[in-house]
This record gives sequence, C-alpha cells and structure tokens, in this order.
Amino acid sequence: MRLTVIGTGYLGATHAACMAELGHEVLGVDVNPDRIAALQAGRVPFYEPGLAELLAKHVASGLLRFTTSYREAAEFGDVHFSCVGTPQQAGGQSADLRFVDAVIESLAPHLDRPALVVGKSTVPVGTAARLAARLAALAPAGQHARLAWNPEFLREGFAVEDTLRPDRLVFGIDRDDAESEQVLREVYRPLPAADVPVVVTDFPTAELVKTAANAFLATKISFINAMAEVCEAAGADVAHLSASLAYDTRIGGRFLHAGVGFGGGCLPKDIRAFGARAEELGVGQALSFLREVDAINLRRRQRVLDLAGELCPDGLAGRRIAVWGAAFKPDSDDIRDAPALDLAARLHRAGASVSVYDPKAMDNARKLHPELDYATGALEAAQGADLILHLTEWPEFRALAPDAVAAVVSRRQIIDGRNILDRDGWRAAGWTFRSLGRQ
Ligand code: UDX
Repeated sequence: MRLTVIGTGYLGATHAACMAELGHEVLGVDVNPDRIAALQAGRVPFYEPGLAELLAKHVASGLLRFTTSYREAAEFGDVHFSCVGTPQQAGGQSADLRFVDAVIESLAPHLDRPALVVGKSTVPVGTAARLAARLAALAPAGQHARLAWNPEFLREGFAVEDTLRPDRLVFGIDRDDAESEQVLREVYRPLPAADVPVVVTDFPTAELVKTAANAFLATKISFINAMAEVCEAAGADVAHLSASLAYDTRIGGRFLHAGVGFGGGCLPKDIRAFGARAEELGVGQALSFLREVDAINLRRRQRVLDLAGELCPDGLAGRRIAVWGAAFKPDSDDIRDAPALDLAARLHRAGASVSVYDPKAMDNARKLHPELDYATGALEAAQGADLILHLTEWPEFRALAPDAVAAVVSRRQIIDGRNILDRDGWRAAGWTFRSLGRQ
C-alpha cells in the first residue's frame, strides 16, 4: 500500500520505518526541512533503540522517502497517518491541538481522490468527529476523504518493538464506514504477530482508550509513590511492599516501581489534558483524582530536594552535587518533563554547583538548561561531590562500584531516586545511602 506518515517525531518516524518494514511504500512528511533532510540521509534526530537501523534499511530499499510537501503527500498516498504532537498548552492544562488541526488544514485541500486520514496522536475526546467534518468540508473529494482514529500506545525506548508487536490495535471508525475498517486491517495485515487483538469502535471510545490507558498507568505509579510517602512516615519499606503486592496477579508488578515519579512527553500532559477535557464535558469530578495523581508525582521531586537538604545541613548553596541522569527514563534522550533534569535545575537555583551526566540526553539537556555543568561520564560528574543523586536508571550507573565512586567524591552521600541501586553494597562501602519510601 502507499502510505504517508505526517509528523516525524518519536511516534511518526517510528511508524514510518515500521510501515516500510511491513512492506508498504511510505512517504514521511514534516514541516521541518532539517528533520526531513536528516531522515532522508538515514539519520534519526533522536535516540530510539533499533530505529536508526530500520530507517537506514528502508531508505536504502527505496520503500521509505521523506518530503516537506503536502501536495506530494496527497498525490502519493491512499492512507495518511497523522502523527503530530499534542503538547500541553502554554499557561494551561489542556492539549494544544494546533499541529493536529494544521495537518487537516494543509492536507485536505489537496485530496482530490478517495483517501483515508488516520489519526494516531493523543487527543481530547471529541476531536476526531470535529476533524472528520473539517476534512470532508475542505477536501475536493468531499465525503470520500474519510477519517479513522487509531491510537498509538508505543513506549519510548521500545518504540519499534511496540509498533511491530502491539498488544492490541484500536480502530475508531465513523458510523457505517466498513470500508475504512477494511483499509486499516489491510495496513496491519503483515504484522509479525498474526493474532494481535483488534478492537473496532467509535471515534470517542478510540480517543478515550489512549487517555484512559495513560491515566491508569500514571495512577498506578502515583499509587505506589503515595505508599512510599506512608512508608517513610511509618518506617516501612516500599520496595518490599511493592514486591509483595506484585505477587497478586490482579495487581501485577508493572508500573509499581516507586521512585522520583513519572515524566516524559506523555503521562504528565495527558492526565492534565484529560482532566481539563472532563471539566469541559461537565464530568470534572469523575477525574478529580487525576489532580491528586499529578500532585503525588510532583511531591516526590520535592522529597528528593528535602533529602538533599538533610544531607547538606549547612544548606545547598555552594555544595557540589552530581546528578546521574537527565532523560525522563533510560533508553531515551527525551528530557520533556524529566524529573532528573528538573531536579538538577532546582538544585542549581538553590545555589548548588550541579554537574549532570546522562548517556544519551546531554545535547537536549544542554539546550534547555545551559546554566548547568555537564560532565562526560558518571565519575567525572561525581568528582569532588558532596552528594550524588541517581535519578534516571541507566544500567551503566548500576554497574559502578561504590568503592570506585568513593575515590572521587568529597563526601560519600547518595540518594537513589529510582530505588534500584544495591543499597547494601553502597552502605558496606561506607556510603550514607538514602532512597524514597525506604529507611
Ligand atoms: C507512556 C505509555 O507507557 C505509552 O503506552 C504511551 O503511548 C506513551 O506514554 P513513555 O512516556 O514512553 O510511554 O514512558 P513509560 O515507559 O510509560 O514511563 C513513563 C514514566 O513513568 C517514566 O518517567 C518512568 O520512569 C516512570 N515510571 C514507570 C515509574 O516511575 N515507575 C514505574 O513503575 C514505571
């Protein structure tokens, strides 16, 4: 099939390369000429394991090309995937839909033959119906320019894997549009896992599946982080609590890892946008708990600052603090709403001298926070430190021997914001070791 993928960020670039891997002819579209030039040259402008190889393979095979031209996209494709971002509005909680709207406004006027536009972005419920009407009104093909909603659930760091082996496919289809459902089934037919469950539903349900999934995951993380707060007050151990809860298969252990909390380009802004949309729909109370989920999450960052204050009793001003990690999670260079980088910046504002190291996110971090110091390795960051904060759980931090780190610091003090370092090993090497939700 001939597909276009509009928006070539984490989601779109991955989707484009994976659709080529399924054997489709794919044209990636983006308004950013630098990004298009990089992708066309086979370079992925961000870090995502396995994506660079897949991109290079299909640029070389000729199945994957890129353009900045919507006219070319409309001429080329029969199915157009919209993969643009829906960031949080500046100064508000709602989703900013300008990019989603721009895709329809730019593409539709060129659609002069039957085409299917497929939304994949995370949008407030009700958006798809509005876009479908706008699409039919703007396209020369009129009602033959159809819309479907097919939310994407990929995790950064596992984006290729999640796209080629999804847990499920959700097709939001307009009333009586059996044809669009068939087109989508055809697109995904070559998926390696032949028995991927498919849920066919209406627009609003398809939109809600994505926001509900992210709200549930965020709630699960904040639940265990709330337990961590209680553990701290009660003298209990959240790691043991979480491990014990996980044996109950109704609860399960995934997303039950207490620490400095969730960040990234999805969970934080999606729960806020979901709450804002519920308010508009008159059911704000139903989702008022998401405000608490958000608050619990942000309180964990404050807890790390408080612990840092306890370990530096003469104040943070002038103290040397090493921050291990900047990305919002390992295997990513994404620093959007990253707890690690946020904490580094807040410590700097408190007067500390902060040295940050992250295996992949240094360039992004430096652009956003040029005021921080950046080291070329974890040990260099720790040089002369009064305190180390372990905030993104890259495997290379776990591999460091406490003795080797002790040799370079000024004081043996570490806060494990991810509850994953070998506490006993660090303590045996003479470190003051603090973590979240544990004694
Ligand atoms: C998330 C959803 O998982 C994905 O399905 C959706 O499509 C996009 O949003 P992603 O943002 O890539 O994906 O990250 P995810 O792996 O979900 O992690 C989110 C954050 O939660 C990270 O900051 C991570 O460190 C944190 N987290 C995760 C915890 O603090 N504890 C956990 O137990 C799990």
